[in-house]
Amino acid sequence: MSKRFSLCALAMVFSLGCTSNPVSAPTEGASLVHDHHSLSRPSEAKVVHAVIDWTCDFEQKCLYGSVTWRVARAEGGPGVVTLDTKALTIESVAAGREGSLHPVPLDLHPEHPVFGRALVIPLAPGEDHVRVDYRTTSAGSGLQWLSPEQTAERTHPFLFSQAQAIHARTILPCQDSPGVRFTYDATVRVPSALTPLMAARQLGADSDGRTFRFTMPEPIPSYLVAIAVGRVAAADLSPRVRIWAEPSVVEAAAWEFAETEAMIQKAEALYGPYRWERYDILVLPPSFPFGGMENPRLTFATPTVLAKDRSLVALIAHELAHSWSGNLVTNATWSDFWLNEGFTVYFERRILEALYGRARSEMEASLAKNELIDEMKDLDPGDTILKIDLTGRDPDDAFSNVPYEKGYLLLRSLEEAYGREAFDACLRTWFDENAFQSRSTEDFLAHLERTLFVHPPQSEPSVDLHEWIHHAGLPADAPSAQSPEIAEVDRLAAEYVAGRVGPETLPTTKWTTHEWLRFLRALPETTDSAALARLDAALKITESRNSEIRMQWLLMAIRASYGPAMASLEDFLSSQGRRKFLKPLYTELAKTPEGKTFALSIYRQVRARYHPIAQTTIDAILGLQN
Ligand code: BES
Ligand code: ZN
Repeated sequence: MSKRFSLCALAMVFSLGCTSNPVSAPTEGASLVHDHHSLSRPSEAKVVHAVIDWTCDFEQKCLYGSVTWRVARAEGGPGVVTLDTKALTIESVAAGREGSLHPVPLDLHPEHPVFGRALVIPLAPGEDHVRVDYRTTSAGSGLQWLSPEQTAERTHPFLFSQAQAIHARTILPCQDSPGVRFTYDATVRVPSALTPLMAARQLGADSDGRTFRFTMPEPIPSYLVAIAVGRVAAADLSPRVRIWAEPSVVEAAAWEFAETEAMIQKAEALYGPYRWERYDILVLPPSFPFGGMENPRLTFATPTVLAKDRSLVALIAHELAHSWSGNLVTNATWSDFWLNEGFTVYFERRILEALYGRARSEMEASLAKNELIDEMKDLDPGDTILKIDLTGRDPDDAFSNVPYEKGYLLLRSLEEAYGREAFDACLRTWFDENAFQSRSTEDFLAHLERTLFVHPPQSEPSVDLHEWIHHAGLPADAPSAQSPEIAEVDRLAAEYVAGRVGPETLPTTKWTTHEWLRFLRALPETTDSAALARLDAALKITESRNSEIRMQWLLMAIRASYGPAMASLEDFLSSQGRRKFLKPLYTELAKTPEGKTFALSIYRQVRARYHPIAQTTIDAILGLQN
């Protein structure tokens, strides 16, 4: 495997003795951009390697221990290294040369409500190591500690992290910027009966059975540091793919994700070798706030995609695709987030097309474009710009489908304008030339100039990149997916609404999840309770346990005050914590006084079970922020 450590980029900027690591030639066009979301100052002194030592304390609900950083210092820079911290209790700080550190005074800057506190550590000439002894606190948003009742098995507690976008600083003092990459070694001590997993190479347990070791040999940004601890079992799908989950979930998960190895092979055929050795998947307990998180070597996934029919496995294609777009080539700042997500959606659909055929990927693309258009109606125009201005904001607050689906549509319009062959070559060289680097939107534009725009466009007018990247909304000539299946569902929905076909004559037994979703979304917002009751009587939709269909149906049920679905709504809001499902449902409930009362009564009971990220979102919807 080729290894280009972060030191390569550093070599351009720092006078650094790159002695022990292989260093390839500095990559041209690299940009060192300032990241407004980090209080650290990597241009002065940059972290390059961490030695993490954690003990996992389920009684106190904290990780405690230390992180020791090796630092690359800029020539002539100030004699300090600055780290991000938030909601951490710092016990002591030391600095020095490797193996001989001495205590230094604690210099923790005042707290910024979103970005936390800068920790400034003095370095005497020649010193390049710092150590921080600390513990995490319950005020941090990066870890969720689950009681046994919050797991499937209900017998053991569970811990998991979620560091993207800027929560890593609540887990460890670090330079919490996607533009700073480092390698790490970790030792994790856990109570007996529990297994720690990290998004890293697993080196196994010591003879005590409670001390586990990990190493991450590829340089990663802080948002890809991840840990989970629980009682888990494993099933191997191929020599490099393993499914981890609670014991009672692992079999269903292994069945659902059985095509993962085939996906990796399709992905490699498209954009080059998989460079992370293993691709494992951990299915988390239901409070995991996202669908998936592309933690390197160990994707984290929600159990709500276990639909028992493999219909929601686009999520795996997506997180896998991040092994190239995002993890190999990373957005330089959160304003370039579309480089991670738009590329990944494009890549995800190419994997689906290669594996299941174009009809499937076009169906997903068609549904997604409609959703994007709907969502954009309610967004601030500034939040519909790809190169989004996030100054002073938590990136979580601006989260939407725009970087995903508008980003996808931009890449698709480039593919359509220049042809698939030229565009694939352009993406392949993007990943190869920038592997293990962080890159900005402007870097990508320069890459397009060099690799794609040297070809004549196959259609006129060509793509207006400036409009795509810097203007609000969707360009009028944005591509549209062609899906005969979706068009047919639209036709049937129109017939149904016009009263020309009854629910029992709809060909629903042949429908995929996506056709179901389109049908429900095609019904008018004014569809009333009586109409939902007729549909339900014929099609038993309230009984569906497909999470996507269920969410769509419950949204319609709230709008129509359709009583028979309310028990299912309450159950859905209390049994899983995926923000994508909670947010629209609570938002819809909050639109009427009765709905809001219902929402508050449920939320009061379940809030403590939701992840901090979901709590923040729902607090805002229900007006509960302090
Ligand atoms: N990296 C994202 C999740 C994320 C984004 C976490 C921003 C925190 C901040 C992940 O790859 C993702 O996009 N997940 C989606 C699923 C996907 C199929 C679109 C999700 O969780 O819904
Ligand atoms: Zn993603």
